[in-house]
Amino acid sequence: MKFSHRVICFLLLFSGSGAFSPVFADPGKALFKEKACALCHNINNPGTVFSPVCPGLQGVRHRHSQDWLRQWLKDPAAVWATDDTGVRDMNARYFRYRGSQPKPRESFMATIIGKSVVLTDEEIEVLIEYLWKL
Ligand code: HEC
Repeated sequence: MKFSHRVICFLLLFSGSGAFSPVFADPGKALFKEKACALCHNINNPGTVFSPVCPGLQGVRHRHSQDWLRQWLKDPAAVWATDDTGVRDMNARYFRYRGSQPKPRESFMATIIGKSVVLTDEEIEVLIEYLWKL
């Protein structure tokens, strides 16, 4: 490889927003921050810890299928309304963590996701890939 080519490759590798970001960063991790997920979720907490009000996302792949997550990230309000086993499971964990009796409540995630933050199908796939590693 000619020297000039090497310089160009080097510039391509290191250009972009932050030092290593375009080539080495995990796109799912970046999207998780960009799309407000990180404001509410702690990826290091287990799903039994709702601190302050959102479940930790560690091991989330054991709690939901990819298909369920696809629907949830697209339109949490719609999934919430079905009161399916995934929703019931989240709610059971929520009230156990609070130490209170279950009662009807709105989805907190649906106040933002599917409303002011709408995800494309492509973004959802990238996020699921990321969630699957937690
Ligand atoms: C406004 C705070 C908020 C934002 C923003 C938010 N979530 Fe949530 N998320 C929640 C809450 C709270 C729940 C539990 C159900 C509920 O009350 O909506 C939840 C549930 C989940 C679950 C199921 C977790 C489990 O243990 O069953 C996943 C996965 C998830 N969110 C991923 C995401 C991703 C990915 C994003 C970003 C695109 C995101 N959330 C953005 C608050 C939020």
